[in-house]
Amino acid sequence: MEITAQRGLSGAPPFPQPRTCPYQPPETYRRLGEEAPLSRVTLFDGRVVWLVTGYHEARQLLADERISADRQRPDYPALAPRFQAEVARRLVLIGMDPPEHDEHRRLLNPDFSRRRVAELRPVIQDVVDHYVDRMLRLGPPADLVRDFALPVPSRVISEVLGLPGEDLEFFQEASRRLLQATTREDSQSAGEELIGYLDRLATRRRTESGPGLIGRLAREEVAGGTLSHSDLVQIALVILVAGHETTASTIALGTLALLDHPEQLARMQADPAAVPAAVEEVLRCVAVTDLAGARVATADIQIAGRTIREGDGVLLSGTMANRDDRVHQDAEDFDIGRTGRRHLSFGYGIHQCLGQSLARLELEIAFSTLFTRIPNLRLAVPADQLAARPLGSGTVQGVQEMPVTW
Ligand code: HEM
Repeated sequence: MEITAQRGLSGAPPFPQPRTCPYQPPETYRRLGEEAPLSRVTLFDGRVVWLVTGYHEARQLLADERISADRQRPDYPALAPRFQAEVARRLVLIGMDPPEHDEHRRLLNPDFSRRRVAELRPVIQDVVDHYVDRMLRLGPPADLVRDFALPVPSRVISEVLGLPGEDLEFFQEASRRLLQATTREDSQSAGEELIGYLDRLATRRRTESGPGLIGRLAREEVAGGTLSHSDLVQIALVILVAGHETTASTIALGTLALLDHPEQLARMQADPAAVPAAVEEVLRCVAVTDLAGARVATADIQIAGRTIREGDGVLLSGTMANRDDRVHQDAEDFDIGRTGRRHLSFGYGIHQCLGQSLARLELEIAFSTLFTRIPNLRLAVPADQLAARPLGSGTVQGVQEMPVTW
C-alpha cells in the first residue's frame, strides 16, 4: 500500500499503526524509514510529531540534553488516551528529567546490576519450571500467553519487589487493565487501585520484616529520610508495570519468531551457548515497546538536515532503528548468529532500561527451558489468525493469546 494512501489530513501518516506480522513493523514505518531518518507522523489527537527511524539519529537524540522525558509538561506527546491519565503523567523515573531522575536511578541501580540479577537465576528457573511442568501436566493445547509468557515475568517481578504470592492475580489483572486501557478513565482507575495496594504494602513493610525491594527501600531509604513514602510507591508502580508486560510480550513474540525460523531455532536448541545471542536477536527483531522513547524538544535541534523546533514531540522508533541497514547487515534477516548488542530495544541514554539484565536472564531461561522440555512445541493455529493487541492503548506490541500444541 502507498504511504500517500494512508496519510492523515496533515499529510503525515497516523501513528501508531497495526503490525501485520506481530513481530515485524508495519509497512508504513518501513517506507518512512527508507525515505529519511526523520519523518512526520500524526497522533490520535491530531498532533503532528517527529518519528525518528535512523539508528544514529535516534541515539544522538536520546543522549541530547535538549530533549525532555517529563510527562507532566503540557507539550509532552500523548500516544494514546491512556497517556493523558494523571497516573501516566506522574510517572517517576521514566517520566522525569535530571536531577530528580538521576537521584531515583542511583537508589535502584545496585538492585538491578548484572551481578545482583545473576543471583536470581535459581528463583527464575524455579518459576519457569513451575509453569512448564503445569503445561505438561495439563497437556496440549495451551495458551502460551496465559499459561507461560504472562505469569513468568509477573511472578519474577513480584519476587523482586517482595509482593505476597497471594496477590499475584490481582496484580496481574490490574496492571493489564492499566496498560491496555483505551480510555483515560480506565487507565486512571486501574492505576489508583495499584497505587492503593502498593501504598498499603509499603506502609506495612516499614515496620515488619519482609523480602524484596519495597521492604529494603521502606526500611532503609524512607525510614532514613532519603526517599519519600509516595516516591517509593511510585517507583514500585513503575517497576511493576515496566517490568511485566514488556517481558511477557517478548517471551510470546520471541517464541513466535523462533517457531517461524526453524533453522535458527534448531541452532539454538543444538547449542546452549547460543541462547544469549538468540535472546539479543529476539530483542532486536520484536522490539515490543516499538519506541525506544517519546520526548519533547526543549530547544531547536538541527539533525540530519532537519530542524526539530522547541516544543516539538519526538518519537524514537526502536523497531526501525533496529533495522537500519547502515548499522545492521541484512537487517531484515532473523539471524541468531549476530554479534554485538546494537539495538535500541532497551532504549539508550539516561533512561536506558533499568531492568535489562533481569529481562535478558528471564528470556534466556524461558526460551532455553521451553524449547528443551517441549522440543516439538508449535502453533496450534495459523500464525495469521493470532489476534494482535488493540492499537488504542499505545505502542506495546503483543498478541492476546497464542494457542500452542506439542
Ligand atoms: C524485554 C523486556 C523489556 C523491554 C523491551 C524494555 C524496554 C524499555 C525501554 C525501551 C525503556 C526506555 C524508555 C524511555 O527511554 O523512555 C525502558 C525503561 C525502563 N524499564 Fe524496561 N524493558 C523491559 C523490561 C524491564 C524490566 C524487567 C524492568 C524491571 C525492573 C524494567 C524497568 C524499566 C524502568 C524502571 C525503566 C525506566 C528507566 C529510567 O527512566 O531511568 N524494564 N525499558
